Amino acid sequence: MSKRKILLVEDKETSLKLLKAVYEQDYEVLTARDGLEALEILFQHTVDLVISDVLMPNMDGYYLTYKIRNNPRLRDIPVIMYTATYVSMSEENIAKEMGASMYLRKPAPVKILLSVVEEILADPGKYPYTIPTRPEAAERMGQYSTKLITRLEQNNIELDEANERLRQLSAHLQITREEERKYLAREIHDQLGQMLTGLRMDIVWLKKKIESTDEAVVERFKKALGLLNDTKEAMRRISNDLHPALLGDLGLVAALELHGREFENRCGIKINFSASLDELNEMELGQDMTIGLFRVFQESLNNITKHAEAKEVNTLLKKENGNLVMSVHDNGKGFNVSEIKQKKTLGLISMQERALMMGGKCEIQSIPCEGTTVSLTVPIQLK
Ligand SMILES: Nc1ncnc2c1ncn2[C@@H]1O[C@H](COP(=O)(O)OP(=O)(O)O)[C@@H](O)[C@H]1O
Ligand SMILES: [Mg+2]
Repeated sequence: MSKRKILLVEDKETSLKLLKAVYEQDYEVLTARDGLEALEILFQHTVDLVISDVLMPNMDGYYLTYKIRNNPRLRDIPVIMYTATYVSMSEENIAKEMGASMYLRKPAPVKILLSVVEEILADPGKYPYTIPTRPEAAERMGQYSTKLITRLEQNNIELDEANERLRQLSAHLQITREEERKYLAREIHDQLGQMLTGLRMDIVWLKKKIESTDEAVVERFKKALGLLNDTKEAMRRISNDLHPALLGDLGLVAALELHGREFENRCGIKINFSASLDELNEMELGQDMTIGLFRVFQESLNNITKHAEAKEVNTLLKKENGNLVMSVHDNGKGFNVSEIKQKKTLGLISMQERALMMGGKCEIQSIPCEGTTVSLTVPIQLK
């Protein structure tokens, strides 16, 4: 005996695949993405049973059922509504009134999915259906779509609210983090700095007192002082990465330039820095803004060190229509921006979140084999 035919109507690719996997072994499975496609298939094939989602583009599941029940050739095909859109009892009643043989809630266990189909096909008479009439159906459809729109709007509002709360939370965490970093940077700089200065004085004092001509002793003193210098340098770098003190002392431009120069020395990639702020007094810029710009600059250069294989970097900071615009361009290997979005890495995302926090935007453009440009535009905020 040939397999019986089931038509699955579902717009979501994954749900459709799952359903198909459930029935494929015992039935011949046909698939459609919406009611219109389903009708076309029904006119071309002899189908034994339809399982349909409710909410679909072009023609939804209720209207499809209405069409089936009002067509003499299709009328007796059992239709199962399979949906997660609605879960209340009245929804089930609407489905029945619209001519469905049965209503199943998503996700139903595989056992149930298989057994209901088996039962209905064994004795379709046990599952009577109504034939919806036009006015009644139209009214039902009207109620249904109004409800649906309200529900969708409600979902949108809830989503927007949740998004906004997440934004606020992430902004709050960012600010706390910056405060902690600033505190740590100062502690390292002040406390450890003082201790190292003390240590240096002691070593110099000892060296004078001992005044040894023993080469090993002279050498050891030299080494100790060298190590001390390296330690101071490392400490300064760490403290500066945590929170650039220059930002508060000399302003944004100096802090960016110094960071750029250190990048050049460390990585051997040439960096050109240009800044034109017109008459804007950078010491008047708000701290959230200067630290935000600095962090995006830092992350852009980090990415260039880690990924770009670039020879040269061009950076620009300028004032434009009440905004500060910063761009960091490298001539490295570039990447495919849309592919990276799926990687769910945090560096690029955090740059964009930073920009949003400042009321601006951060665009990342990249062309494979040509290079990458990070452009940040933020409205100027003064202290
Ligand atoms: N300047 C760049 N040049 C080349 N590839 C880059 C550059 N910046 C980012 N990328 C690519 O984008 C990816 C995501 O970057 P990011 O979100 O900062 O994450 P991470 O640096 O931790 O990998 C990187 O893994 C890299 O493949
Ligand atoms: Mg990164």
